[in-house]
Amino acid sequence: MKTIAIVNQKGGCGKTLTAINLSAFLARSSRRVLLIDMDPQGHATLGVVKDPVQLEKTVYEVLAGEGGLTALREVVIKVRDNFDIAPSDVLLSALPEKLRDMPEKENRLSAALEEIRQDYDYVIVDCPPNVGLLTFNALIACSEAIIPVEPSFFSLHGIVRQLETLDLLARKSGHQITARALITLYSTRSDFSKTMAEEIRQNLGESCFKTVIRFSVKLPESVGHGLPIDEFSTRSAGFADYRALAAEVLEQESSHESACAAEPLAEEASFHGEANLIEAESDFQVHPTVCCSRSTRQARAASNWLATSTAGWQKATKCKPATGSGRK
Ligand SMILES: Nc1ncnc2c1ncn2[C@@H]1O[C@H](COP(=O)(O)OP(=O)(O)OP(=O)(O)O)[C@@H](O)[C@H]1O
Ligand SMILES: [Mg+2]
Repeated sequence: MKTIAIVNQKGGCGKTLTAINLSAFLARSSRRVLLIDMDPQGHATLGVVKDPVQLEKTVYEVLAGEGGLTALREVVIKVRDNFDIAPSDVLLSALPEKLRDMPEKENRLSAALEEIRQDYDYVIVDCPPNVGLLTFNALIACSEAIIPVEPSFFSLHGIVRQLETLDLLARKSGHQITARALITLYSTRSDFSKTMAEEIRQNLGESCFKTVIRFSVKLPESVGHGLPIDEFSTRSAGFADYRALAAEVLEQESSHESACAAEPLAEEASFHGEANLIEAESDFQVHPTVCCSRSTRQARAASNWLATSTAGWQKATKCKPATGSGRK
């Protein structure tokens, strides 16, 4: 079973749309997929469940363990053939307080996945737009991460912060995640978008998907109908791009590296440190003397890149002053 977190602490970069539509296209390719909604906003749930008001049990019950343990299987809803969701709603926001003094609170999702290991080929986890208990649960439960990133200046900061978070996780728990950026909300008509995307690709190299998700009006429309894009508009850019993304993910199935990485990492996926991972995150900095894991190197390289590209951006923006004609 492959476990992939769709994560970026920056909000609104396409995490949920990616989680829903990657799940849908993997299911179309006959993979058994479970989408787990780890965001109290419940957007992934709203995007695929026809009547979310009727939810009886959610991911909250599984992770909080209220009234005895609730198994993940008990909350799963069938979306369609090969595609299930473990839904969430706003109650999930109470989880950090509920588990405040509990030991092993970062490992709860990982433990819950154990019982469904044989049931699915892929588990896709939609993360909330912040770093906290819910995101750490998702990261510890997953061996891979997709970081959606829109081609904007703030997104550069977002990638660097996200890589730092993964580095923190690796150093505190020994849990290494294979992370790849995915360019989303790409505008084919904007030079800025093109330059930004090139910049991200050049600097992240293989750690960036070849597929780019273009801006497509059909994508927001599809979630409004509670449908993944493949059931809503087969002629849209959103359909073509998410299909290509799923193909790229499937290509990796045959790759030796990901086959070896997935299972052992899932076993290591527990946090036993004395320090609280969430508290540690708040004062975390990439320190030059720490042991140099892959994620540390990625985070440092990204940090250097950010410093140089910030200077580059400022220069480039000065070269292209606004004409002023747009302002009235
Ligand atoms: N490729 C796209 N084309 C057009 N609209 C998009 C695209 N991707 C995302 N959107 C829209 O952008 C908004 C943010 O997308 P989404 O909810 O997937 O982001 P998110 O990262 O999950 O947000 P949050 O951080 O709040 O969870 C939504 O309104 C969504 O419909
Ligand atoms: Mg979201």
